Amino acid sequence: MNIKRRIIIDTDPGQDDAVAILMALASEELEVVGITAVAGNVPLELTEKNSRIIVALSGREDIPVYAGCSKPLGRELVTAEEVHGKTGLDGMELIEPSIPLEDKHAVDFIIETLRENNPGTITLCPLGPLTNIAQAMIQAPDIIERIQEIILMGGAYFEVGNVTPTAEFNIYVDPEAAKKVFSSGVPITVLPLDVTHQVLTTKTRMDKVRNIGNRTGKEVANLTTFFERFDKEKYGLDGAPLHDPCVIAYLLEPEIFEGRFVNVEIETESELTRGMTVADWWDVTDRNPNALFIGKVDSDRFFELLTERLRLLP
Ligand code: RIB
Ligand code: CA
Repeated sequence: MNIKRRIIIDTDPGQDDAVAILMALASEELEVVGITAVAGNVPLELTEKNSRIIVALSGREDIPVYAGCSKPLGRELVTAEEVHGKTGLDGMELIEPSIPLEDKHAVDFIIETLRENNPGTITLCPLGPLTNIAQAMIQAPDIIERIQEIILMGGAYFEVGNVTPTAEFNIYVDPEAAKKVFSSGVPITVLPLDVTHQVLTTKTRMDKVRNIGNRTGKEVANLTTFFERFDKEKYGLDGAPLHDPCVIAYLLEPEIFEGRFVNVEIETESELTRGMTVADWWDVTDRNPNALFIGKVDSDRFFELLTERLRLLP
């Protein structure tokens, strides 16, 4: 039996976060040690509630959910209701969460989990702004070297930005947090818009999900039907990028992805390019590489994998 990959999912649900969480909870290769909510797509009181709703939908009510930071380290919160709707999970038939929110703050949970487990055994999977992760590093610098690796959805280079011409939303919301994480020395794998824009929720793909025959398939199809309308109109494509599940798919089948180990710096000074992930793709600077920046994926295999895993849920 292979050793399970033990992960903490840090998230701002968000329909695509919801699909990523479901995919992770369905995958026996992964042990989700906990889910930590952060403010992002919608405010924290909704991202923590939505995290618990998705845990309830998955039937995995053993998974603890913690609420983290309600605003970025040093900026006002920017949210994305125009994409995700007022609740953050518009599209699905909303149920009341059946698990309570944990009392402990998410940042304390991250710190304690890393201190209580052997170094190199906990992977952090941020799917939203990096505020919780950076705050944990600031509060407890000793945990940095204990993190096995960070696999995050965020950033953009050749695909350019989605919230400004140069910045992707997760990094834009809290660029100071991103700068802290990218300069931490922790092994980082980045799933940027460059790759997430290759996994589009086309009708053929999502019909297969809807027709799985379980509640999860129906609700995921309902979630993406709502979520995709914004990007389909914006980009004029026949589907929307399904960002966050790329993190989970990378954990499960890294071989379907391709990337390059490069230096990635975060713009925090200029308001024009705030939150830009400046990837030195052609190694033209003397800055040391610090992240595996993913640029390609086998998108058909991605959706096969996603559908296979969602089939395993109620
Ligand atoms: O830019 C896409 C990212 O921003 C995704 O994680 C989405 O959920 C939003 O948080
Ligand atoms: Ca997200």
